[in-house]
Amino acid sequence: MGGIQAGEILSNLERSDMPNRPFIVGNWKMNGLRSQMAEARAIDRGAARHVGVRVAVAPPFTLIAAMAEDAHAIAVGGQDCHQQQSGAFTGDISAAMLKDAGATFVIVGHSERRAMHGETDAVVKAKAEAALEAGLEIIVCVGETEAQRDAGQAEAVVCAQLDGSLPVGEGAAPRLTVAYEPVWAIGTGRVASPADVAAMHGAIRARLATLFGEEGAEISILYGGSVNAGNAAELLATDEVGGALVGGASLTAESFLAIVAAALPQAD
Ligand code: PGA
Repeated sequence: MGGIQAGEILSNLERSDMPNRPFIVGNWKMNGLRSQMAEARAIDRGAARHVGVRVAVAPPFTLIAAMAEDAHAIAVGGQDCHQQQSGAFTGDISAAMLKDAGATFVIVGHSERRAMHGETDAVVKAKAEAALEAGLEIIVCVGETEAQRDAGQAEAVVCAQLDGSLPVGEGAAPRLTVAYEPVWAIGTGRVASPADVAAMHGAIRARLATLFGEEGAEISILYGGSVNAGNAAELLATDEVGGALVGGASLTAESFLAIVAAALPQAD
């Protein structure tokens, strides 16, 4: 914990502060009313006690501004953005609007967006580029379906998603995080085995080296899919796992902070 005083609060998405901190991100999906802001404040207080872990929450759009105003120790981000900065796109939110509301990052390419909103790799890449242009960090999600895994195509599918979805321009790598989320593990209670996670994260790391050269080695690769307090420590100790993208278990401070605490041993 070199140089960090007990109780000191870091501005937490500043990667340069402590570049190798595990990164634990809560994805609230379409959950959260103003009445749940107390949970967010409790998560924030808990994160302040765990400076060895970088903690972030992506609430629904409607809570971003309120959560960002209250946050001291967590980063607040969006779950999606439009690929254009403004215009006639009824119901959509641009990256610039997220930034304006206080977000510092955005998740793009989540499998629920890919499946339910028909987002292709090209659309995900355009969103990622728009977010970088607006000054946000990005978490780009990839992951295979169960049928693809059963057919032995998991690594090929994920590598094709990386090739098609990641922005590779100048300055992209330092603001990029990749989240590997097998579709069959999301919200199902079925978690990928550490061996499968290690194999896939290794394949992703190799692809990042191809796409970004030396900078590819510094990009965090998160695991997501039914992460909870009981399985987090083992997953987070797995090779090439730089953190977790957490859905259901991020909705309460109690369950989310248990995952944050589980990330601590590898911070030292
Ligand atoms: P889950 O969701 O933790 O509820 O499985 C993870 C995600 O979709 O990001």
